[in-house]
This record gives sequence, structure tokens and C-alpha cells, in this order.
Amino acid sequence: MKLAEKLIQYHTLTKAEYIELLDECENPEICKRLSDEAVRLRKKYYGDKVYTRGLIEFTNYCKNNCYYCGIRCGNQNARRYRMSREEILDCCENGYGLGFRTFVLQGGEDPFYTDEMVAGIVREIKTKYPDCALTLSIGEKSCESYRLFKEAGADRYLLRHETADEAHYRKLHPENMSLSNRKRCLYDLKKLGYQVGAGFMVGSPGQTNETLAEDLLFLAELQPQMVGIGPFIPHHDTQFAKEKAGSVEQTLFLLSVVRILLPKVLLPATTALGTIDPRGREKGLLAGANVVMPNLSPVKNRKQYDLYDNKICTGEEAAECRGCLARRVGSVGYRLVQERGDAV
Ligand code: SAM
Ligand code: FES
Repeated sequence: MKLAEKLIQYHTLTKAEYIELLDECENPEICKRLSDEAVRLRKKYYGDKVYTRGLIEFTNYCKNNCYYCGIRCGNQNARRYRMSREEILDCCENGYGLGFRTFVLQGGEDPFYTDEMVAGIVREIKTKYPDCALTLSIGEKSCESYRLFKEAGADRYLLRHETADEAHYRKLHPENMSLSNRKRCLYDLKKLGYQVGAGFMVGSPGQTNETLAEDLLFLAELQPQMVGIGPFIPHHDTQFAKEKAGSVEQTLFLLSVVRILLPKVLLPATTALGTIDPRGREKGLLAGANVVMPNLSPVKNRKQYDLYDNKICTGEEAAECRGCLARRVGSVGYRLVQERGDAV
């Protein structure tokens, strides 16, 4: 309990202390102490509001081959799709009508969409919906590309660092990718004035409490406005098909720790968490999360954005997803709001 109290008081620990704290992630008293404090902080800054982001998964082509990912380029079994500019704009129109005020354009790293195309789509969305925030999540690019997207009107960028430990990073990614480039991207994005989201999977193959401690130290250094944390879930067409999924308990524990580490952070209760536990997203909110990211992509493409097995919400229309989430959020005492939901 000593370390939980220290984290609560100072919002930071040393690497050795984080490792020791993470060893206690199944201790119910410590979990309760941390989640109580996480909830106190989220209420202090965000009251009972939960922000929604309309996720548009516009391409599942990817030039990368991250070993854990179902849509990596090496997966010959993935059925590929790309959405046109018009289809993306239709998703925004539908989403705006449903009350979304943030759109997230996410995809594999797909060279089909040139920087000019992406900037054009961003510009059009921001012109049509000036009261909405636009988030990009399209992987590693040059600083110049990020600058172009920013000038076109992009507000935020999600790029999970995946792991801050070199050896662990090597286990999850092929030779042509590097942790240093991932970090370079995140620092470039910050410098350019984006609201930046980093993050990692919980329980990815090779992860230890030591690598998780590195993740927490990296988050403390980067000071991102958003942190995406969800369990690793195996995909049948990857080399990690037989690995165990991350645990609900450890994910919740880390959500609380991150809320305490970065009290004002925008922290989603992820779809992956909802996939490994039917009430995972509600539990995420009770552990300190304050964002949900329902899908706005056309139902015909949803199953194809197949990052991991048994992904939920792949058969429902956007309106159904929003209604379902509003009820879930309400069931744990929070309120889904129609706002951009910037970091305070
Ligand atoms: N290409 C962009 C990028 O690299 O940031 C965005 C798309 S990528 C599929 C989005 C996130 O999905 C990754 O950052 C990763 O953490 C997560 N992801 C991929 N495979 C996963 C798996 N098997 N289980 C859980 N999350 C996974
Ligand atoms: Fe590129 Fe997963 S390997 S999105």
C-alpha cells in the first residue's frame, strides 16, 4: 500500500517502484485504493462526462508487418478494403447527426492515400464541421507530412508507442521498424501542436512488469494528452495466435495508474477491453477512463478491420452502437456528452 500512497501523493514513481507496484495488480485493496483515486481525479477534471469519438477505419491496407496485428501486410488472408473520400464524408455526416463532435480517421499505413489526399480529406471535414475535432491515426510519417496535416486542420494524433523497451519492441516488430522512429514521431507531433495520444497493449507477448514500468516512465516524460491502453488479443493469422490475451485486471490496474500519473489525460475504455469482458468498457470507466470510441465505419467493412479475434461491435450500425454505449455509460453513473472533448 505504501507505493500506491506514494503514487497518489507524487504522481510518479521510480522504475523499481513501478515494478513493485505492478506486482500487486491482483491485490484487491491496492486496486480499490488506486481506482478510487483515479475516479476522484477524473471527476475533479471531467465531472461525470464521457466523451465519444467516432472511429472511421478507412483502410485496412498496411505496409507494415507488426507481428501482433491481423491486418499486417504479411497476412495474405486479410480481405482488404479502402474507403473513398465520399464514403469517409458520409460516415462523418452520419456521425454528426448522431451527436459525434470528434472524428478519428484510423487506418493501416496505406501509401495509396498520399499526404495531399489525406490533407484534402482533413480540410473538407474541418470545413464542413468546424465545431468538430479531427484526429488522425495513420501511423509513422515524416515531420513534414505531420505539418501538412496540421495545417489542413487536424487537431489530434493517436500513435501508440506499443512498448518503450527496446528488446520488447524488437520482439513485436520486424527489423525495418524502430522504437526510436516511433518516439521521434510522437515528439514531432507534440512540437507541431497536436494533442497527442501514446499507449500500449497490456499482456503483449514478451511484456513484463519491467517493460510496463518503462512504458509508464515514457508516458511521464512525453506527457501526452491521450493514452490508449487495451489488452493484447491474439489474432489467428499471426505468429502470436497461440499466445494468451492480456488480462482485464491488469488493464484496469494500468488505467488507474495512468489516470493518477497524468490526472487530466483523455483515457478511452477500449473496444479490446470490451472484447475480453462483456462489461469491460464499463469496468474501464470505473477504473478512471473517460472516453469511448464507437465505430462509425460502414458495417460492410467492419469485420475486415480485423486486428484481433472476436472483435465486438462489428455487426451494428453506428446509431445502434451509440445507443448501446450511452446505456452502458449510464449504467455506471456517467453521461455520454455531445462535445469535442478536448483535454482540459
Ligand atoms: N496504423 C496505425 C498505427 O500504427 O498507429 C493505426 C492502426 S493500428 C491497427 C492501431 C492499434 O491497434 C495499434 O496501435 C495496436 O496497439 C492495436 N492492435 C493491433 N493488433 C492488436 C491486437 N492483436 N490486440 C490488441 N490491439 C492490437
Ligand atoms: Fe499496420 Fe497493424 S501492421 S495497422
